[in-house]
Amino acid sequence: MPFLGRLKSVQCWFLLGGIMSSVSSHPTWRSRWVFIMAAAGSAVGLGNLWKFPYILGENGGAAFLVLYLFCIVLVGIPVMMAEILIGRRARSNPIAAVTRLANESQLSKHWSLMGIMGVFTGLLILSFYSVIAGWSLHYISVAVQGGFTSISPDESGKVFGAMLASKGTLIGWHSVFMLISLLVVGFGVEKGLGNAVKVLMPLLFFMLIGLLIYSFFEGNFHASMAFLFEFDISELTWNSVGVAFGHAFFTLSLGMGAIMAYGAYLPEKAPIGRVVLSVAIIDTLVALVAGIVIFSIVFAHEGLSASDGPGLLFQSLPVAFGGMPGSTVIATVFFVLVAIAALSSAISLMEPAVAWLNESFNVPRWGGVLGFSALAWALGLGTVLSFNDWSKYTLYDKTFFDWLDLITTNILLPLGGLAIAIFVGWRMKEAYVKDSLNQDNPVLINLIWLILRYVSPVILLGIFTLLIANVVGFDLIALMTKD
Ligand code: TRP
Repeated sequence: MPFLGRLKSVQCWFLLGGIMSSVSSHPTWRSRWVFIMAAAGSAVGLGNLWKFPYILGENGGAAFLVLYLFCIVLVGIPVMMAEILIGRRARSNPIAAVTRLANESQLSKHWSLMGIMGVFTGLLILSFYSVIAGWSLHYISVAVQGGFTSISPDESGKVFGAMLASKGTLIGWHSVFMLISLLVVGFGVEKGLGNAVKVLMPLLFFMLIGLLIYSFFEGNFHASMAFLFEFDISELTWNSVGVAFGHAFFTLSLGMGAIMAYGAYLPEKAPIGRVVLSVAIIDTLVALVAGIVIFSIVFAHEGLSASDGPGLLFQSLPVAFGGMPGSTVIATVFFVLVAIAALSSAISLMEPAVAWLNESFNVPRWGGVLGFSALAWALGLGTVLSFNDWSKYTLYDKTFFDWLDLITTNILLPLGGLAIAIFVGWRMKEAYVKDSLNQDNPVLINLIWLILRYVSPVILLGIFTLLIANVVGFDLIALMTKD
């Protein structure tokens, strides 16, 4: 048991890298690398490979990227630090952790609502996350059968379209993914997935580097780089501001307690600032490489378009794989890696709720896991139908899935993040906060702390105000600049 820290009884916790622990004795991981891997496993997922490229494509490329990086640095990194701080200081599940720290600083017990909102947000996200992860499972089955060999963009679009049209296929793979996730969270990941992820996540990274090299020689690398890095501010819309913001939370797994739950296992001596930077850098690199690769392929083929939406990853990459020697193996391995990345993220959406039900209400772990995943599964059917039978039922042009994504990613996660920033930045006693951060480089940690206090909440409140004003029809910017 290479990573065990002060372990007394082995139960209930899971995680990457062969970690076992118990909530009752609150052991810690022996090294910060285990935490970094666990947090990176949660952060790197469909958000990086599937979502980031398509929202980038829909929102005009470079201008959106700048905004997104800005959100990662000025909001994502500070909020991640705050989440880890809460988790590590309280060493328990997110809801109990917030309650305990609110107590410690003599604050209202209503702060625990923040954690309950997080559990609810996790449920909503898991419901659609599992459906999309199911797409990657379906793609494994197509790839294994050689279904992508020499495929044209047109045919690739048809494969994707046929999948979306078939409710049975979508529900089947959604169910399989949910089942695997619930087994993993139920049994504990330490043996199976723990070891698998240790190998497979680096493999995903190497494969992405391989694809990057491929796209340099075979794709339209130049156009891709221009799309990603040639900044044109006129491309930005209010909608893209909201999307970039929400995605900074989504991609770093922030705003609902997932990282807080992991923080509960971070060793006392680990420097939080540097840990947070490592996770944010890994996550951003994976997203950037995925983006560069996908757009190099898109711009090299007629029939693929940057604004293809949620199908972008699934329509573009098979075209590239199909033209390579050994396409069956390469495509299969790639979609297996996507599915594994999704799995290590999905478990972090489930774990806070399961730990909370277990510790606070004595719900047996299996009971919590089954109940939570059954709810998420049922809700996921709405997402399945959004791509076929219900695609015509829209509200303001958005399907059920679009609304779910918008409400969770663009509203609930940033709201959770705002609450976390205010809690740690303004409400917790400063001495406690400083005490929790004192192992790190003082310049780095003070910088992040100041951003958390003075910049993140202001940006978040500002964006919320502008978005609301925009929705109700006020163009605040125009009002402000009018003379
Ligand atoms: N970050 C993951 C991704 O990019 C998704 C995810 C896992 C998540 N846990 C989360 C998103 C918690 C928000 C909150 O795919």
